[in-house]
Amino acid sequence: MPLKKKILELKKRKEEVLQGGGPKAIAKQQAMGKMTARERILALLDESSFHEYDLFVEHSAREFGMDGKVLAGDGVVIGTGTIFGSPVAIFAQDFTVMGGSLGLMHARKITKIMDYAIKMRMPLIGINDSGGARIQEGVNSLAGYGEIFYRNTIASGVIPQISVILGPCAGGAVYSPALTDFVFVVDNISKMFITGPEVIKSVLGEEITQEELGGARVHCETTGNAHFFANSEAECFEQIKKLITFIPWNNSKKALRFEPKHPKAQYKIGDIVPDNPNKPYDVRDVIRAVVDDSDFFEIQEMWAQNIVIGFGRLNGDTIGFVANQPKVLAGVLDCDSSDKAARFIRFCDAFNIPIVTFEDLPGYLPGVDQEHQGVIRHGAKMLYAYSEATVPRITVILRKAYGGGYIAMNSRHLQADFVFAWPLAEIAVMGPEGAANIIFRKEIMEAENPDEMRKAKVEEYKEKFANPYVAASRGYVDTVVEPEETRKFLIHALEISLEKVVERPSRKHGIPPF
Ligand code: HXC
Repeated sequence: MPLKKKILELKKRKEEVLQGGGPKAIAKQQAMGKMTARERILALLDESSFHEYDLFVEHSAREFGMDGKVLAGDGVVIGTGTIFGSPVAIFAQDFTVMGGSLGLMHARKITKIMDYAIKMRMPLIGINDSGGARIQEGVNSLAGYGEIFYRNTIASGVIPQISVILGPCAGGAVYSPALTDFVFVVDNISKMFITGPEVIKSVLGEEITQEELGGARVHCETTGNAHFFANSEAECFEQIKKLITFIPWNNSKKALRFEPKHPKAQYKIGDIVPDNPNKPYDVRDVIRAVVDDSDFFEIQEMWAQNIVIGFGRLNGDTIGFVANQPKVLAGVLDCDSSDKAARFIRFCDAFNIPIVTFEDLPGYLPGVDQEHQGVIRHGAKMLYAYSEATVPRITVILRKAYGGGYIAMNSRHLQADFVFAWPLAEIAVMGPEGAANIIFRKEIMEAENPDEMRKAKVEEYKEKFANPYVAASRGYVDTVVEPEETRKFLIHALEISLEKVVERPSRKHGIPPF
């Protein structure tokens, strides 16, 4: 039967492609603790949901021994599937096939699946494991990268884009992940750098290992290039699946609604924040005390820890949380924490995720280092991101709200929709000690006992200004709430903001500070 014969031929062809780079290369991959490209996709997607395309694509190179060389699927697997029933487009570079190197057809496969994702409005997941531009294909591989970067940019803010680094990702290749929304890395497996150790040694004479230069930990703790750290590929896939539950398919949808749940009883919201404004605490406990099931999914947990960002749910709906972390540097704002918060705020705004801000900070970090690192433009990113955001925005001032920090943390003056304050809140230009020393300097210096006078004046200042009622008397704070009332006020504010509309002057796009 011709059809039966043809089907057998199809099966044989498929079988050949599914061998990837062959048993030897696969064994090498496994010895490094890495899955193969297809194993990764199958581990990540819902069972039986993966549909692969372009299996039979062949490379088009003819030079440098490439003529007649067979490269299964040209070193990349592409397709679509679902995660918890939500559609995703996916590509995974296959390191067993010529090191997952990117040639013209390999890039065409990736851009094809990116085009599907953009057209069908579904999230895109890219699994990177590649030696970079296929050297034998010269400018054709560079062209391929350019086509990918272009699509990453066009897709930005339209569909969520997720990059997973599960092997080397070097040279200009790192710019695709950098253009995406979330970067996942795995300890001892992920490596990202623009120029590797060899080039650094020959140009600068500096010696460094790949891991020290651009390993998973480096990008989670030091550079801020990665958002999620995992100890194994399996753990990494669980993180991706969890992220998918919090975000919508595209920018015209909302994230899926879940069954509402109460926070866990172990998080007692009234017992977390100490009365003494100088005593630290973990602001993540405040978030856990208000969100459904106390389930807070933190992003960039290891970098710029003086600010905390992540997703949780209130009454079943996804919320983006931004919170100063008094446990680290007293929760001050600086270059990195401003960058971290600003990018997250823009993601939430692009994807219809309301933002709740918990505020407790003494202001911006002073110092020559910060000034020379450009804290002016970095800090401005946060002002810009909050001001630009049209999703519902709610602030709760937990304790300190001083100076520029008060304005930057989604204040009423940046058009926050609701601002609530706890009774402990101190809203002022600066802390009582500093303020009293300046405005009562003369009285303190001229007093018989300057120390006594200073204490008295600090108390006087605290009494008058270090409270939420001055701001509340001007309407800058909508109401002062007891900690236990916080969840109720947040849920109500979000419910009545569902149809929020903001009119803005028309423009091509703004020019945020970079
Ligand atoms: C062609 C490549 C390749 C590449 C790896 N291979 N990278 N072939 N072009 N870029 C091939 C190897 O020749 C080898 O083929 C197979 O893939 C597996 O590689 P190994 O070297 O055996 O693996 P490993 O020891 O694990 O080393 C991995 C590696 C190394 C560190 C990534 O392969 C490497 O240094 N590759 C070159 C990296 C590089 O310089 N790339 C160009 C970057 S510039 P066989 O046949 O032996 O199995 C760039 C510009 C992008 O990417 C610009 C975008 C704007």
